[in-house]
Amino acid sequence: MKKLIAHAIAMMEKAYTPYSKYKVGAAVLTEDETIIGGCNVESSSYGLTCCAERTALFTAVSKGHLSFKALAVASKNGGTPCGACRQVIWDLCGNIPVYITDEHGNVREKESKALLPDAFDENKLK
Ligand code: THU
Repeated sequence: MKKLIAHAIAMMEKAYTPYSKYKVGAAVLTEDETIIGGCNVESSSYGLTCCAERTALFTAVSKGHLSFKALAVASKNGGTPCGACRQVIWDLCGNIPVYITDEHGNVREKESKALLPDAFDENKLK
């Protein structure tokens, strides 16, 4: 998991954040042990901004990955995933460990089901 966390921290450098200046990096570990990174990419219209977690997961899906073992997210102060990302993490990953780290590598581990209790998901659509 050290490698996954280091990758998320490194991805902070790629963040495009001219508005908030708040850089976030993420990295997802796929079932076949591939690590795929992402960063937040901001829009001048703010609402079109894509968070680092979703950038990483959508990149992974676009590369053909659909099974995930863990996710790491990094920011200067160890901010937790936003609500929209919690939903997407649950939808695409189910219950996985989420490593939330600051830029120095101080890590907190949370399960994705703890981040989004009583989640709405595909089972409700049946
Ligand atoms: N941000 C993320 O990348 N992930 C989160 O889960 C929380 C927020 C980004 C979005 C925006 O670019 C900046 O952090 C400030 O909200």
